[in-house]
Amino acid sequence: MFDLIKELVNVYGPSGHESAVADKVEELLSGKVDSFRTDALGNLICEKKGTNPKGKRVMLSAHMDHIGFVVVAVEKEGFLRVMPVGGINLAVSKTRHITFGNGIQGVLVQQPVREGENPVMKHMFVDIGAQDEAEALSMVSLGDTAVYSNDCFRLGKHRVAAPAMDDRVACALLVAVIQELGECENTVIAVFSAQEEVGCRGAKTAAFSTEPDMGIALDVTSHGDTPENKLPAVKLGEGAAVKIMDQGSISHPGLVKALLAAGQRAGVKTQREVLPFGGTDAMAMQQTKGGMPVGTVSIPCRYVHSACEVIDLRDVEGAKALVLEYLRSLV
Ligand code: CO
Ligand code: ZN
Repeated sequence: MFDLIKELVNVYGPSGHESAVADKVEELLSGKVDSFRTDALGNLICEKKGTNPKGKRVMLSAHMDHIGFVVVAVEKEGFLRVMPVGGINLAVSKTRHITFGNGIQGVLVQQPVREGENPVMKHMFVDIGAQDEAEALSMVSLGDTAVYSNDCFRLGKHRVAAPAMDDRVACALLVAVIQELGECENTVIAVFSAQEEVGCRGAKTAAFSTEPDMGIALDVTSHGDTPENKLPAVKLGEGAAVKIMDQGSISHPGLVKALLAAGQRAGVKTQREVLPFGGTDAMAMQQTKGGMPVGTVSIPCRYVHSACEVIDLRDVEGAKALVLEYLRSLV
């Protein structure tokens, strides 16, 4: 699982620019699904037909996009002004290595630095090593996007840190589920969604066009297992978290029950998750067309929306067993 996660977290893909991730997923799933389709929003929709005509249509959604930065202006000294794409936390973005889609490297800097003060965007700029405005504009254009640079590494025995763990770890999970599913009575619509970080936009159109009977988002969630953080009551290494609710959706109680039961039958640990903030693609699926029952299977993740998002590989394995058991036992 580590190799697959590493392969996916290292692909460039801020919100709205997910095509390289989609290409990688399509390569990994070639021969494993009945059809691939990319829609106008950039979603990659992979359908694997069920063998039972009475089977359900289950949409699983993992978002491909990653939070990032977009160039809004260039200073005459050659520095770039940027603004966030998605939920960038400026407090953890000081003096960070970032990479543009065309390979240009940059250092995100905050000046002046005042002790105890939260940075504001107007004090942040990117140094790309340009001498002046003209040189900077020969390297990047207004509107170009950047992300935290690749840095995927093992942490202890079971854990992995990387930027873009949100949500490439779930892309890896969904790839692994489809690779291992084999013959199944139910139709699985694996959606690798676009533009989640700017408002769950991709999942909305994907759910509209594929008409599933139910939707399950696969995403990271936060953690309550560090010295200063006790909520949500979710711990790394304690298994996949089955979401009860967050600020975007309330999971269907019947689906929560079915997911927890599937985890139990698969013999893996699960946690019940109530997240006081945030939302997932479940929110978009739940409110598409006439609505549908939704749930979210979450991978517990520390330091979400930073350049060092940490997950536990055992939780990913557990989530895979849970989702496989759920898909196989439905109908
Ligand atoms: Co996110
Ligand atoms: Zn996410």
